[in-house]
Amino acid sequence: MSQQETSADDLNEIEQMDREHVFGTWSFQKEVNPTQITDTDGVTFTDADGNEYIDFSSQLMCSNLGHSADKVKTAVSEQIDEAAYVAPNYTTEARAKLGKKLAEVTPGDLSKTFFSTSGTEAVEAAIKIARFYTGKQKIISRYRSYHGATYGSISVTGDPRRLESEPGIPGTIKAPDPYAYGSTLDPMESLEYIDEMLELEGDTVAAVLVEPIVGSNGILVPPDEYLPRLKEIAHDHGALLICDEVMSGFGRTGEWFGSDVFDVEPDIMTMAKGLTGAYQPLGATIVNSEIAEHFEGNMLCHGHTYAGHPVAVAAGLATLETYQDENLIERSSEIGEYLADQIENLAEDHPSVGDTRGVGLFRGIELTKNSEERVPFGTREDKISSGSTVVDEVSATAAENGTYVANMINTLIIAPPLTITEDEIDDAIEALDAGLEIADQAMEN
Ligand SMILES: Cc1ncc(COP(=O)(O)O)c(C=O)c1O
Repeated sequence: MSQQETSADDLNEIEQMDREHVFGTWSFQKEVNPTQITDTDGVTFTDADGNEYIDFSSQLMCSNLGHSADKVKTAVSEQIDEAAYVAPNYTTEARAKLGKKLAEVTPGDLSKTFFSTSGTEAVEAAIKIARFYTGKQKIISRYRSYHGATYGSISVTGDPRRLESEPGIPGTIKAPDPYAYGSTLDPMESLEYIDEMLELEGDTVAAVLVEPIVGSNGILVPPDEYLPRLKEIAHDHGALLICDEVMSGFGRTGEWFGSDVFDVEPDIMTMAKGLTGAYQPLGATIVNSEIAEHFEGNMLCHGHTYAGHPVAVAAGLATLETYQDENLIERSSEIGEYLADQIENLAEDHPSVGDTRGVGLFRGIELTKNSEERVPFGTREDKISSGSTVVDEVSATAAENGTYVANMINTLIIAPPLTITEDEIDDAIEALDAGLEIADQAMEN
């Protein structure tokens, strides 16, 4: 993901030290020029030169509470004083209470959680649990997806970042996606394709794994009937439905979870990011009571030193309480409508906006250099190539105008903290307006 463009000559001493000794993620290292951040406040952050940015993407779509969640900060420091770490065979008050609260806020019968430290670990646990429970090996996931960087998760990822790591773990199969703007396949047809895949694979598929609303691969919102029908198809073939809510969870969509948008109860759900609003690294894999029951008499052959880390779960509990106390889920839905209107106005002024889509505070602006032919500025190939695209330049210009907006392949990812105000949205939209001029000028038609 590209953020903003800084040249190596502009780096200060800290940035240079970092550049020399720390790897940048998902990057050609010669292109890594880190910007030192010295302060965060509300929905903004400030760099070492004193430039302030509105955080229009919640960093990596994870700082759902913004940067001033006092209750979470206090919970973290109090937990460090009380018991900074105990092994996973012990428990703490926050761990038990967070497990219970997750059972309450997640859909239906999801009731028992395995805690880890990241989204990718949450997905690893989901894959293993699905395999242990069903006794089957295969996982069907989709091409336009990202599920994490560790070996199991990158193997089920469809995004081109998986290619360097192939061959991945055995038994992973990719299916087409419900992508209405840039694919020739109708979204509901893509679903029938999965039905046929399950049929032809015989009784060997443990689970179908999807992001209910695809995040990194372009904020793809399926038709309303898609997810309920996918669950039916999976169950008809004896496979579980795993919903990866690492990005779409915790109010991002205007509901607690992306699954709630479609009124679907998955068999297993993965979470991270908004689970602590990024105040601590924490992942979670929750399963329904039937799957939980299976492990009463079968070993859950999985664990980490930091499974249920006391400080991380304390942050998680305070974060969930903050969502509830401040009605932030409802707020996301309401202010998400305002955001959608502003994005529509922006789209009318910029011919390079090919498509806008999303729900709540989870929105995407897909760009095109030729609106009739729907030709993208950034391609999947670009994602793993050196150099920058016009989409990167749009983000860089927005940053010059005081707004950080992440982009993935050909889509600007608009996912601000749930605490953002209308005025802050207006300021960020103004910066995007300046950025989109660059794309308009680069169009073919
Ligand atoms: C849907 C989804 N799953 C899994 C992950 C991996 O999470 P992490 O980077 O915390 O390992 C991500 C990260 O962006 C994600 O968006």
